[in-house]
Amino acid sequence: MEKIKVGAFNPLPIVPIALIGANVNGKPNYLAVGCIGAVNLNPPIVMISLTKSHYTPTGIAENNTFSINIPSTDEVIETDYCGLKSGKTTDKSEIFTTFYGDLESAPMIQECPITCECRFIDSQKFPQCIAFYGEIHQVYFNENLIEGKKFNIINANPIIFSALENVYRDLGKSKSLGKCYDIGWNYERSKTSEVRKSSMKHPKIVEKEQFQILGIEDVNKMELREPAAVWARFQQVGSHIPHADTSHALGIYMSNKDLLKEDKNRYIVGVEVSKVEDIPKGMISERIPRQKYVLFTHTGPLSTLKNTYQYIHEQWLPNNPRYERLPFGVELEWYDSRFRFDSENSKLDLYIPIQEKSE
Ligand SMILES: Cc1cc2nc3c(=O)[nH]c(=O)nc-3n(C[C@H](O)[C@H](O)[C@H](O)COP(=O)(O)O)c2cc1C
Repeated sequence: MEKIKVGAFNPLPIVPIALIGANVNGKPNYLAVGCIGAVNLNPPIVMISLTKSHYTPTGIAENNTFSINIPSTDEVIETDYCGLKSGKTTDKSEIFTTFYGDLESAPMIQECPITCECRFIDSQKFPQCIAFYGEIHQVYFNENLIEGKKFNIINANPIIFSALENVYRDLGKSKSLGKCYDIGWNYERSKTSEVRKSSMKHPKIVEKEQFQILGIEDVNKMELREPAAVWARFQQVGSHIPHADTSHALGIYMSNKDLLKEDKNRYIVGVEVSKVEDIPKGMISERIPRQKYVLFTHTGPLSTLKNTYQYIHEQWLPNNPRYERLPFGVELEWYDSRFRFDSENSKLDLYIPIQEKSE
């Protein structure tokens, strides 16, 4: 094939994007880098090149340590955000769960499948950047990257930074994960303390057997619904329901084709019952079928529940490669003794009905 001259610029990197961690002024700070490479195998020495004006170089000088963290495609939004915002103006210490190794001052990211702590050994100044050399002290792998005596690096799902196209790519797929210096803004859009936690990204998949409930129902359009009023009605009668499991109460969303046509659904507030002898006036009984659910725990006041639902329906479900919402499946809100109406520590489980996607 003919070669075409396209000018003098750095054609690299097409590399796994990395997050460099350093403690700056006593707090972990992470920045995204594409300029990273191995310079010696034994001892293992790496180089990262950082723009002089960034916040991170101060931390490397303070502690003589830094970390290299290879995020997986699950972390693409947070990774880009670390490349959009400087620690000078934004506290990036809470974006990930930080842990420390033997060097004690190189913050590493729990959510990243591959991380390592490095001892700073030298630097070299260039017109715009400083190249920092570090000797790798210890590498930490997620256990699923080790299969017997072999490494399975594909399980790390690294994000490929394709600089000339300005996109992130998935190593195993040709599809783009989103634009660089852009997708990270979604981090602020979905910003609630809970949504950022890794437990929200890796929720449990559970199966629940069928069960019977007794409660109060409200059939209405979503925008006209007042769940608080349904709960208030339920609280007047809820304590006298025979054969009830009183350890928790449920908020239940149900729908069917007829309700969908009218843009309505049912919201039921009720309790699980072991048997139904007769149904008290004004109440209804329903059998909730055996279903597979993805289980999220919302932490925080009830007023922020909408952020968690938004994350589940606008981010987790549309981007999940394996599961999709079960059409007309029953959605459950599970309120137990951990629930405190407006406390930051309140917990509420959300069971979202799912099914495997067909190929
Ligand atoms: C995809 C991507 C790659 C980047 N690569 C580098 C790099 O190799 N070196 C660098 O100094 N900055 C790089 N940046 C920019 C920094 O991550 C960004 O300016 C960051 O906000 C600096 O953070 P700090 O001031 O907290 O250290 C990159 C950003 C993105 C989004």
